[in-house]
Amino acid sequence: MDHPIAVIDFGSQYTQLIVRRIRELGYFSRLYQPGELREVGAPAAVILSGGPRSTREPNAPDIDFEFLKSLEVPVLGICYGMQLLNLKFGGEVAPGNVREYGPATLLVEPGADGILNGLKGHSQIWMSHSDTVSTLPEECRVIGRNLDGVPVALQWNACFHGIQFHPEVSHTQEGTDILRNFLSLAKDLPKFRMASFKDELIERVRREVGGRKVVCGVSGGVDSSVLAALLHEAGVNARYIFVDTGLLRENEAKEVQSLFSEMGTEIETIDASDRFLSALAEVTDPEEKRRIIGRLFVDIFFGAVGQDVELLAQGTLYPDVIESATSGSIAATIKTHHNRVDRIMEMKKGGRVIEPLDELFKDEVRQLGRILGLPERVVSRHPFPGPGLAVRCPGEVTREKLEIVRHADRIFIDLLRERNWYDSVWQAYAAIIPVKTVGVKGDERSYEYAMSLRAVISEDAMTAQWAQLPYELLGEASNRILNEVPGVNRVLYDISTKPPASIEWE
Ligand code: XMP
Repeated sequence: MDHPIAVIDFGSQYTQLIVRRIRELGYFSRLYQPGELREVGAPAAVILSGGPRSTREPNAPDIDFEFLKSLEVPVLGICYGMQLLNLKFGGEVAPGNVREYGPATLLVEPGADGILNGLKGHSQIWMSHSDTVSTLPEECRVIGRNLDGVPVALQWNACFHGIQFHPEVSHTQEGTDILRNFLSLAKDLPKFRMASFKDELIERVRREVGGRKVVCGVSGGVDSSVLAALLHEAGVNARYIFVDTGLLRENEAKEVQSLFSEMGTEIETIDASDRFLSALAEVTDPEEKRRIIGRLFVDIFFGAVGQDVELLAQGTLYPDVIESATSGSIAATIKTHHNRVDRIMEMKKGGRVIEPLDELFKDEVRQLGRILGLPERVVSRHPFPGPGLAVRCPGEVTREKLEIVRHADRIFIDLLRERNWYDSVWQAYAAIIPVKTVGVKGDERSYEYAMSLRAVISEDAMTAQWAQLPYELLGEASNRILNEVPGVNRVLYDISTKPPASIEWE
């Protein structure tokens, strides 16, 4: 698409949220690495993201500033982006007194317009930085400050703007207004519609496949189902493999079979539960578990399809890319996602992996799935992690613990469906707490596991709130689990937000 709104990625955890917010405003935006600026073509506007590095470090990520100026389009620097622009305009950046993380207040300077046009003048913003601008170049105007009078919004000239805080996160109350104001300074804004994005994706799939034979792992989850539907729509005749890891929820394997037969597509199922369980025996470290599952999955998968796979299609979404980013990009690793293990990354370098959904967030994938005609029960399914129930069994994964988790999870999910809560939460599940506690069952002492129930509200899994489920529903879930699931004598409800917790236990 012509004239994208280019978001230059300096590695912040929130960078893709900027792209997403712009899409929500109805415009087309895309992410680029700092060195790719010249390849963007003619962007309608440029946003420089935040990032974990300091502009004062040797080899700090940089931008071709002369070229950026020559574009003569609106530019917004966010956090690191603002500090970088300040340096480019001849100002200075210094370490802040403290690392500022979390809520702060924006005070709009009297008479400020442009990106702060129409704002309340006193609203919450979200900070995440340690450096701050210390000296401002002469022509620079301060348009907003925090409560300590520190400049947090700058304007260097008619095109160049900067903000120290993150307008893309929902904790910045007027963040969307700021982005909207910024975009209103641009000409020829490209419109974003999922239906036309679908056409672009189909073109992309055809171009990337280029007549090669495709294999695709499926799980029955939203992502791989949407990917399969997209490949189908693009006229790609792929071979679909379903590896039953034994780490799935109750009846999941059967549901996958029936979904694909409804789509008129054949899948090959491999039952590998025993192999996964033995590989995981005595392993307790979460990253080690993920690595083992990832590697074994890949071994089994390639054992079935052969080593000389021409092209592998994966339903990787943007958050998977960002949360397991490694040294190749700037963001720091949070946890390794199963579809980004070494062997697959090697194939990817060799151009043998396609990930057509890698720019999308979950709800966008759902929207795409609906446009592609997938049944609602599939598109509205809660996300389920690649390593499956293993990340819901902290400590060693055993057959006994898996049985318990599966049983309790089914009870909890059934109840959420019965009470019409399933679609109101982003994700819900039961996890086992690997600690036995004392209780009384009948007249006897019991010494059994505790379960944790978790239900979260989220927009994109990057941040999450715990869902305020009715006590009565929680009470019933607890009663049913305590009565029906052997091996459990305690049920807890997890009231942790992300951050600092994550959605899954591991
Ligand atoms: P966390 O636990 O990181 O989870 O807050 C964010 C979202 O990602 C899902 N998740 C995964 N999905 N492979 C996946 O495909 C994985 O390895 C993985 N780990 C977590 C998680 O269920 C939540 O929706």
